[in-house]
Formats: sequence, structure tokens, C-alpha cells
Amino acid sequence: MKARRLTIKSKITLWYASFLLILLVVFSIILYFTISGLLYKSNEDLLRADADQVTSILRFEGNVIRFAEPYKIISTNTYFVVFDMNGNANLESEILPELVNLPIEDEEIRYITIDDVLWAAYDKPLKLNDITIGWIRVSRSMESLMGTLNNLKLILFISIPLYILFASLGGLFLANRALRPIDDITKTAGKISKGDLKQRLKTPRTEDEVGRLTVTFNEMLDKLEAFIKKERQFTSDASHELRTPLAIISAHAEQSLSGSKGTKEYKDALKKILEESKKMSYVISQLLMLYRSEEGKYKLDSEVLDLNVIVEEIMKEYGNLALEKEISVDFKSGEKIKIKGDQTLITRLIINLVDNAINYSKESGRVSVSLTKENNFAIIKVEDSGTGIAGEDLPFIFDRFYQADRARGGQGSGLGLSIVKWIVEVHKGEIEVESKLNQGTRFIIKLPLNL
Ligand SMILES: Nc1ncnc2c1ncn2[C@@H]1O[C@H](COP(=O)(O)OP(=O)(O)O)[C@@H](O)[C@H]1O
Ligand SMILES: [Mg+2]
Repeated sequence: MKARRLTIKSKITLWYASFLLILLVVFSIILYFTISGLLYKSNEDLLRADADQVTSILRFEGNVIRFAEPYKIISTNTYFVVFDMNGNANLESEILPELVNLPIEDEEIRYITIDDVLWAAYDKPLKLNDITIGWIRVSRSMESLMGTLNNLKLILFISIPLYILFASLGGLFLANRALRPIDDITKTAGKISKGDLKQRLKTPRTEDEVGRLTVTFNEMLDKLEAFIKKERQFTSDASHELRTPLAIISAHAEQSLSGSKGTKEYKDALKKILEESKKMSYVISQLLMLYRSEEGKYKLDSEVLDLNVIVEEIMKEYGNLALEKEISVDFKSGEKIKIKGDQTLITRLIINLVDNAINYSKESGRVSVSLTKENNFAIIKVEDSGTGIAGEDLPFIFDRFYQADRARGGQGSGLGLSIVKWIVEVHKGEIEVESKLNQGTRFIIKLPLNL
């Protein structure tokens, strides 16, 4: 439960140190036993070689064994004793009595401790014509070998903790360096949660995990900031858009209430009020549609639609409105064109375009709608010979609340085309616009056919 409160740094270091400790201990044990095995082995080889060497200078005279030449012991710490057939010591170097008294055992290397010192003893039978006539025992003190092994043990015991210490310090340093950007992220996130959306993380030059995290985090912040900005803009535009008709309504109502007026004046005022409330309710319904679309909450009610029928009905309704402005409308279509889509939305799409074409038309202008097919797409063209859109306005007309010419626009809200764009997008279509100022505008919409 304490481990949970450890920082990642200490956790990494702890894991690293424990792993290294296990590794070093295992390595040391293997090293120690390998070296000690090798030392014992070479010691035993030496014993046998010494025995052979002493044997080679012995001479047998009957039962008596003598040296053929003055002997000299080849290795330091090596002693010997020669036994006759009865096991009596015959010739000997300055060997310890304990080693002389050891019972004879053929070809066997034994280890015994005398006065805290380990000795190795080896008995080799002496043969004459294949008959054993005695034994030679060679003994070596193991003191220096034990000393070597003890030194090795000491070195390993001291060096392991030192290794671990240095490795841990190094590991801690590296972990610290690697994780420092995360501390930065935490601090920045803290500032942002206090409301400072402008804060960004310093992007490290490396393209490691933390570098990528930083970049992703900054991208997320960019999007978040843009989103919040847009949301604020939307709210302010929306309230502005609703305040104007509301002010007109209040003004008319106040005027009517101040002093008595004739029926005609009251009627006119009420007409104005009705007009403005209709505009408000239109704006609100458009806003609601846009809001739902942005939230991704709009549920498409897809069905197979006959575009000819939909366009014809809209043209019938808008024909009268056009007639009032002395604008001629016409609709051309060669064949039946069916798409899959949401009827309410597709109708809204065409209404918004036709509505614009009529609104921004000049007196005795012309509005035409055409329906064609092209490579699995239905092509809807809405053209007018109206005011046109200036080149500098063109990139913005699909933005919410954007109106190229507010003074003339009058009844609009600047929401129509942003809704059009959204409807085209949810139907996986495309929209293009071509326009020349004072000559006219053409909207071209491509929607996938229902095949
Ligand atoms: N057919 C058109 N001819 C000229 N200008 C147009 C046409 N359609 C759209 N526009 C311009 O694009 C702007 C945005 O259109 P829209 O989103 O429908 O808003 P609204 O019609 O409410 O002003 C309009 O204000 C107008 O300036
Ligand atoms: Mg419009």
C-alpha cells in the first residue's frame, strides 16, 4: 500500500535495482563456483603430477625404496611420504604427522583440515611388475587457494552493493530526465483548468513517447480553444440575431400602448409584431437545427427520395413568392432521380438555396433549378441572375451568421447556407458555388444516387 504512493521515478529505479541485484547475485554465484571448481581441478592435477614426478626418481631394492637421486620438491606447499607394503612410512619430506597417519586409500584425493588449514592428500600405489610394493602420498596445503577464493568472495560482496548504488543513481537521473516533461504537462494542465486556455506545452525536440504526448496534448488544446471560441461566437451571434427583432417588437408594442390609436395603427403594429416574431421563430428553429447538427445529435431518417417530386413541390410554393417580385422560375429535369436521404433535410436544403436565389435576385430576374445524373451522383443546380457574391465574401458564405451584405440582406440570418453545408455533408455529398458580382450565382450540389 506504500508502493502506491511512490513516484514513477522511484518505481522504475526500484524495479531496475532489484532486477540488477538478482542478476548480479546469480552471476556472482555462477562465477564463484566456476572459478573454485577450476582451482580445485588444477590443484588436483598438480597433486597427480607431483606424485608422478616423485615416483620417477624412486628406486626399488627388494623391499626397500630409495631415491635414485637427491630429491627436490617441485611445487611449494607440497609434501610427500612413501609407504612400504606394510604401510610403514619410509621416506618423507617435512610432512605433518597428521598427514602421515591418514589411512591409505588408493587413487583417492581427500581433503582434511589440520589446525584450521585445509589440506589435499593423494595416495598413488607404487608398482613393480604390476605388483603393488608401496604407496606414495602427496599433500598440498590449500591455504593460498582458499585465500584466493576468499578474496574473490570479498570483492563480489563489496562490488555488488556499489554497482547497485551507482546503477540506481544513474537510473534515477535518467528517469528524472525522461519524466521531467510530464511534470511540465501536469503544471500546464493545472493552469488550463484554472481557465487559461492560451497555455501550451513546450514541445521537446525528441520524437519519443513524451514528445508525442506533448504534441497530441497541444493539438487537443488547439481544438478545445477553437471549439470554445466558436461556441462563444455562436452564443453572442445568436443573442444578437434575436435581440434585433425583439427590439422592434418592444418598440411597436410600446408605441401602441402610449395613448389611444386608431384600429388601423393597431393593426399595422400587430402586423409588424407578427412579422418579427415569425422571423424570430425561424431563426430559433434554424439555430436549433444547427445546434443539434453540431452536437451530432440529429438522427437521420433515411429513405428513398424522388428528387423530382420534392423540387417540383418547392417550386410550386416558391413560384408565387417569385411572381410577386416579377422573377421567373423554371425547373428542368430529364429523368427520374432517386437518392437515399432524410426528406426533411433534403427539402430544407433546396428551400434554403431557392430562397436565397429569389431573395438576392434583381427585379425581373430569373431563377432556374435543374436535376441531372453524373457518375452515380445526382446533380442539383440552383442558378440565379441576381446580385452575385463578391470574391472576398465567397469563402465565408457557408459560415454561421455570415452575411455578405447585411444592409441589403434584411430578412436573413446568415444561417441558411451553413445548414445547407451540413445537410450536404451528412448525406456524403459535395457543394460548389460559382458567382459573379452583379451577374448571378450558381450552386452545384452532388448527392450519391440510390442505385
Ligand atoms: N444566390 C445568392 N446570390 C447572392 N448572394 C447570396 C446568394 N446566396 C447566398 N448569398 C450570400 O451569402 C450570405 C449567406 O447566405 P445564408 O446563409 O443563406 O444567409 P441569409 O440568406 O440568411 O443572409 C447571404 O447573406 C448572401 O450575402
Ligand atoms: Mg438564406
